[in-house]
Amino acid sequence: LNKERIRNFCIIAHIDHGKSTLADRLLEKTGTLTKREMEEQILDSMELERERGITIKSQAARMVYKAKDGHEYTLNLIDTPGHVDFNYEVSRSLAACEGAVLVVDASQGIQAQTLANTYLAVENDLEIVPVLNKIDLPSAEPERIIHEIEDVIGIEAAEAPQISAKTGLNIEDVLEAVVEKVPAPSGDENKPLKALIFDSSYDTYKGVVSYVRVMDGTVKKGTKIRFMASDKVYDVVEVGVFSPGYRAMPELSAGEVGYICASVKNVADAHVGDTITEANNPCDESLPGYRPAVPMVFSGIYPVDGAKYEELKEALLKLQLNDAALQFEAETSLALGFGFRCGFLGLLHMEIMQERIEREFNIDIITTAPSVVYKIEKTNGDKFELTNPTNMPDPSEIKRMEEPVVKASIITPSDFVGSIMELCQEKRGVFIDMQYIEQTRVVINYEIPLNEIVYDFFDNLKSRTKGYASFDYELKGYEDTALVKLDILLNKEKVDAFSMIVPESKAYARGKAMAEKLKEIIPRHQFEIPIQATIGAKVIARTTVKALRKDVLAKCYGGDISRKKKLLEKQKKGKKKMRQMGSVEVPQEAFMAVLKID
Ligand code: GTP
Repeated sequence: LNKERIRNFCIIAHIDHGKSTLADRLLEKTGTLTKREMEEQILDSMELERERGITIKSQAARMVYKAKDGHEYTLNLIDTPGHVDFNYEVSRSLAACEGAVLVVDASQGIQAQTLANTYLAVENDLEIVPVLNKIDLPSAEPERIIHEIEDVIGIEAAEAPQISAKTGLNIEDVLEAVVEKVPAPSGDENKPLKALIFDSSYDTYKGVVSYVRVMDGTVKKGTKIRFMASDKVYDVVEVGVFSPGYRAMPELSAGEVGYICASVKNVADAHVGDTITEANNPCDESLPGYRPAVPMVFSGIYPVDGAKYEELKEALLKLQLNDAALQFEAETSLALGFGFRCGFLGLLHMEIMQERIEREFNIDIITTAPSVVYKIEKTNGDKFELTNPTNMPDPSEIKRMEEPVVKASIITPSDFVGSIMELCQEKRGVFIDMQYIEQTRVVINYEIPLNEIVYDFFDNLKSRTKGYASFDYELKGYEDTALVKLDILLNKEKVDAFSMIVPESKAYARGKAMAEKLKEIIPRHQFEIPIQATIGAKVIARTTVKALRKDVLAKCYGGDISRKKKLLEKQKKGKKKMRQMGSVEVPQEAFMAVLKID
């Protein structure tokens, strides 16, 4: 394959600006997939992804395009995940490319993830090819958006293709722009093998499939390879390209994108970001930018039916095969029994995993409120990372506590600036700066504790700005803080699954709000249930769920039998999602609903 005729690129965009739709159109236009095959939405194949309409797992496709210059080009499209939780994976996908097609919705303009992704692309030295999408919409304002791109991002955009990924208008312009503007890959096939893993997947037959960009050298069946970060050696069983399904090839060499199978059984041996080299003829140094996946958010996951503990463990192991970022270890809760403490990249990652366990593995689970990772130094000198509120030491034993803080940037119409600043202030945010993108839109930068983002920041932002603000964040680091553990007692018994770590300054308000919220959620029983919020031995709030008076069936006394059955059915269904806490039945939603308090 002539390197001069290869283009490796990705598509970057803010959520919903049309990345996946454009990817589909490109596959169609190049005849890589037919319209019918397209209906199966290859690039966005996970059911959950389709429902939520966002890309979670990145994938790749190889297309052949005959350009206007008469030559045939091999275009490797690497899809990138579209969410902040997966920024590291995005950055590795970008590192595998020479160019990025930047899709901007011509009716919306630049949004928070447009900027965040563009910065990542620039850091990776990519050529940026701007494209204006949704030109078919009456509200599209291409001229205005061109200026915005030129002013804010500082790249030429007058010539940018103006397309509709939906109707297929001007798709060829995108392909031409990629051929013209994206540089061909450099690299030397005579040097020792150096390949970047930008993604991976688990296949029942092939084992771990590493998605790679070969930077230097050549790899083929039989090559003895070394994963440099994990320092594991394997024999290559198969190499190939994405068409977009796996298609075996004799070899992959410098500049190419494809996959490598080496009977790797454990994804932990083949991390995204790691460098693959030849064991007997290694390259001097690995590619820059590798870091292990670090979970930022932890939560407990318990089977509703305790008997399903082993099944849950199997499910987590299977999910982990495809997702090295998922971590878990066994834990027990007095309230919930045997379960797992799980670590996730962020809230979306957490929700996705929870849903997959319920849907794909059919296990009803209870999840506890998410917690971030705190660093604690005890008075006796011990230091540790706290991922579970239950393990919080007594305040007298704590010398210092640190919590993670993120750099948050919000892009919003200027009308909402006041409201957003108020929100950030409430969330213990520290104002950094504010810049106008154009007359009526601004970028606001804040530093906010991650703990506050976990507490419903996003929904809050959406409702205050009628959905017009966009938001992105990255971890800044750890900072000193003062936090306490808030406990909840139901009918005088502590429910450990409700314990959470809150800022000292907010403990009273949170405790009160939580007691009120639980009062709403917990159904009446035959007896009165006191709900108490405590810090240490101190009760800071108290509410009561009054005792039940009437039997629910009394309502249909004399009514017809089918109605009665229906009512019982309904009750039973409700029951399934209930959890017995001592003498009190708590609906599962209570464990998450406590997050929705202010
Ligand atoms: P993520 O996967 O979350 O990053 O989103 P995305 O950028 O891939 O967006 P997607 O392709 O899923 O498109 C979002 C919505 O915009 C869908 O409802 C599309 O049908 C619609 N859409 C995409 N392109 C166009 C277009 O050119 N015109 C119009 N009118 N709608 C479009």
